[in-house]
Amino acid sequence: MKKILEVISEEMKKAFQSAGYDGELGKVTASNRPDLCEYQCNGAMAGAKRYKKAPMMIAQDVAKELEGSGVFEEVGAVPPGFLNLKISPEFLKEYLDGMSKSDKFGLEMPEKAKRIMLDYGGPNVAKPLHVGHLRSAIIGESVKRIARYAGHEVIGDIHLGDWGLQMGLIITELQERKPELVYFDDSFTGEYPEEAPFTIAELEEIYPTASGKSKEDSAYKEKAMDATFKLQNGVRGYRALWNHIIRVSVADLKKNYDKLNVEFDLWKGESDVHDLIPQMVEEMKAGGHTYISEGALVVDVKEETDTKEIPPCMILKSDGASLYNTTDLATIKERMEKYHPDEIIYVVDKRQELYFEQVFRCARKTGLVSPETKLKFLGFGTMNGKDGKPFKTREGGVMRLEYLINEINEVMYGKIIQNRSVPEEEARQTAQVVALSAVKYGDLSNQASKDYIFDIERFTSSEGDTGPYILYTLVRIKSILSKYKEAGGRLEAAALRPACSEPEKALMLELAGFIGMIENAYEEIAPHKVCAYIYDIANAFNRFYHETKILAEEDEAKKEGWIALLLLAKDILETCIDLLGFSAPERM
Ligand code: ARG
Repeated sequence: MKKILEVISEEMKKAFQSAGYDGELGKVTASNRPDLCEYQCNGAMAGAKRYKKAPMMIAQDVAKELEGSGVFEEVGAVPPGFLNLKISPEFLKEYLDGMSKSDKFGLEMPEKAKRIMLDYGGPNVAKPLHVGHLRSAIIGESVKRIARYAGHEVIGDIHLGDWGLQMGLIITELQERKPELVYFDDSFTGEYPEEAPFTIAELEEIYPTASGKSKEDSAYKEKAMDATFKLQNGVRGYRALWNHIIRVSVADLKKNYDKLNVEFDLWKGESDVHDLIPQMVEEMKAGGHTYISEGALVVDVKEETDTKEIPPCMILKSDGASLYNTTDLATIKERMEKYHPDEIIYVVDKRQELYFEQVFRCARKTGLVSPETKLKFLGFGTMNGKDGKPFKTREGGVMRLEYLINEINEVMYGKIIQNRSVPEEEARQTAQVVALSAVKYGDLSNQASKDYIFDIERFTSSEGDTGPYILYTLVRIKSILSKYKEAGGRLEAAALRPACSEPEKALMLELAGFIGMIENAYEEIAPHKVCAYIYDIANAFNRFYHETKILAEEDEAKKEGWIALLLLAKDILETCIDLLGFSAPERM
C-alpha cells in the first residue's frame, strides 16, 4: 500500500493540475498546527511567484477543485495562502481497512532485498558484559529486526574480541597459578582434557588481576605479549587453553544475551580471520598501497577534502603483530568473500568513529570492499548516570550488566507487588518482562548518537515516555478485548467504522502513519522513530479510552467498530515492540 501521505498528496496534485497549476506543488505534510488541521499543503505559497498570483487565489482555486473529494472532509484556504486539510472519516476508515487486511499492514516489500551484515554486540571474551555493551546489543538487535521487517536479509554477527593481548594475559596468569597444567608442557603430545581448568567465575577474576599486574610489572607484560604471540602462531597447548576460554566464556555470554532477548546469527570473532591476514597484507603490498613508517606497515587514508587530520591506518606493528584494525579489515575481506553483502553496518560506541573512518577508507582504497557495498557506522553515545557522568556502580566501578538488570528487575518487582496481590512467581516473571521494556525503551527512545541518562526511577515509571507506559496501554487494550470476548462478542466479526468523535479520529490518524514510520526508521537506521510512533499511539489511545465507554456502549455496531480499532492498535503495538526487542506480559 502507499503511505497515507502519498495518497493524500496525489489527490492534492490532481487538484493543482485541474486548477491549471503544476501538480508538483501539491505536496502534503503532517500539520504543524494540529489544533487547526490534520495535514497541510503549502504549494500555493510556493507557486505564487511562478504564476504571478497571490497565494491566496491559488489556494482558493485548488480548494474549489477539491469540493466533493472523497479524501477530504475539509479544505480550508487560509491567509496568506495555506491549505489546511482534514481528511474524511470514511476515507480514513477505508485506508485502515486496507492496512488491517494486508500483510505487514500494507508495507511494500523491496523489489530486491538487500543483504545487510550487522556488526553489533562486540563483547570481549573472558570479561563480563558491562553497561558499555548494553547499547550495542539493544540498538543492534532493534536495527536488525526493523531491517528484516522492511524485507531485507540481515546477518547479525557478534564480532567477539577474542584474539588480542587479553588472551595472552589470561594464559600468563594461569601459568603463574598452575604451572603444572599439561597445556604448558611443551613435550606433551597427547589429547588435552575436555574440561576447562577454570570456571567462568575464575576467568572473570583472572583477567582483571592479570591486566593489573601487567600495568605494574613490565616483565609480566613481556610474558603476556609472548604468550599472545605464541597463541597467534598456533602453539598447541595455548590454542587448547584458548579454546577452553572461548567455550566457557561464550556459554556465559549466550546466557546473558538471551536474557536481553538478543540473538546473533554468527558468533564469529577477531580470531576467525587470523589466517586471512598474511594474504590480505600481501595483496595490499602488491597493490602499492602500503609503506613502512617507523618500522610499521601502514596505509595512508587521508583525503584532500579532510578538515581534520586523519592518521594512516596501521596494518602491522614493527614486530609483525596485527592490531584491532587488522582484524577488522580482514573481517571485511571475509564478509565480502563469503556473504557479498550490500551493506555492512557497525553498531559501536561513537568514540570509535575516527577509527572506523580509517578502516572504511583503507578497505575502499585497497579494494577489500566492492564499490557498490556500503559501509555504515552507527555510533552510539554514552549511557550516563544521574550525575551526567558515565554510568558507574555506587563504588565508582564499572557496572556489570547482570547486576544492572537484576537491580531493575527488583525495582519493577517492588512496583508490581505494591499495586496488587499477585502470586510471587507471576510477579517475578512479569517484572522481568516489564523491566526489559524499561531498559530497552529507555535506551532506544533516544537518538542513538546522543548520550542519555540512565534513570531507573524514570524508566520504570508507568507514566510518561517509557516502556512500562507502552506496556500498560497494550495490556489495557488486551483486557478490553478479552472482556468483550467473555461477554460473547466475536472479535473476528468486528469491522471498522468511520470515526464519530475527535479522539477516535486522532487515534485512527496515528495508526495510519505506520508504513511511513517503518520506511523512515529503516532508511535512517533509527529505532527511536518506532518509539516516538508508539508513544503517540499510546497517548491517542488513552485519550480515546478516557472519553469513550467502550464496553458499555449500547449501539452494537458502534461498539464493534471500536473493537476493530482496538484490535488494529493492539496488532500494531505488538509488532512495534517486537521491533524494539521486547514483549508484553498478559497482565500487569
Ligand atoms: N570489542 C570491541 C570493544 O569492546 C568492540 C567491537 C566493535 N566491532 C568491531 N567490528 N570492531 O571495544
